[in-house]
Amino acid sequence: MAATAFAPASIGNVAVGFDVLGHSFQSIGDKVTARRVATPGVKITAITGTTVDLPLDAEKNTAGMAVLSMVRDLQLDFGFEISIEKGIPLGSGLGGSAASAVAGVVAANALLPKSLTLLEQLKFALKGEQVASGSRHVDNIAPSLFGGLVLTVGIDNPNVKQIPVPPTVRCVLVHPHMVLNTREARSILSKTVSLSDVIWQTANISGFITGCFTGDLQLIRESLEDVIIEPQRQVLIPGFQAVKQGAMSNGALGCSISGAGPTIFAWCEHEHAERVRDAMVAGFRSVQMESDAWISTLD
Ligand code: HSE
Repeated sequence: MAATAFAPASIGNVAVGFDVLGHSFQSIGDKVTARRVATPGVKITAITGTTVDLPLDAEKNTAGMAVLSMVRDLQLDFGFEISIEKGIPLGSGLGGSAASAVAGVVAANALLPKSLTLLEQLKFALKGEQVASGSRHVDNIAPSLFGGLVLTVGIDNPNVKQIPVPPTVRCVLVHPHMVLNTREARSILSKTVSLSDVIWQTANISGFITGCFTGDLQLIRESLEDVIIEPQRQVLIPGFQAVKQGAMSNGALGCSISGAGPTIFAWCEHEHAERVRDAMVAGFRSVQMESDAWISTLD
């Protein structure tokens, strides 16, 4: 018995919701095929695609650990062989480790005698994600599993809410050809934040979510701005200011770092999407950085 699952890339934080807000990006993702075997445990049989240099030891692999935690916690009397097909570039800030963990859990879940709920699957995928980043953040796992723009409140008993996005909005993603390690991009962050920045960011996330629910693009434009994390991380991304300025001067509603970077995303209305993409690619090129770019709806 075998099952294959696809899990999309995701944009963590969406500028204003560090570690709690994210959205899926269906144009790229990872696939995992799981096969039921008699012996309890997890064996990774193959890793193919954009990144092959990943651990084959299930305990050290995000998909492997996520499925292994299912086998252990559910006390299954069988195990899984899994093969992983990576579509998401390594260290890109596109939720690659989360997508592999989610695809692994969804594929294995299809082979269980009784299916798990999405929230149960989320908890197992989170255990896999932790192997890669060293921290438990849900802003990639939750959108990759549930789809769309997703807010997650709580970690141990997460409350996951899908937030509607105005239908004319598109996301532009531009991935420069460089690798940024999530652990490193987290380790540089200050442990303290000024009260004025907390107030500003609270207004921004509130305004952003309200704008999404009410379809108020002007409110989204005014609030899609990260005043806490982006100022600290942008130094890790050559050309960040040129890319952001290019996006904003060509009609973007907002532009920031995707997850831990180095990929940069912009939200815009569909009629501006190609211009925004071209300006962002040109921004990276201005610092001799080649990039890949995608445009997607937010479903
Ligand atoms: N919220 C996480 C971070 C996402 O920004 O560190 C990592 O992909």
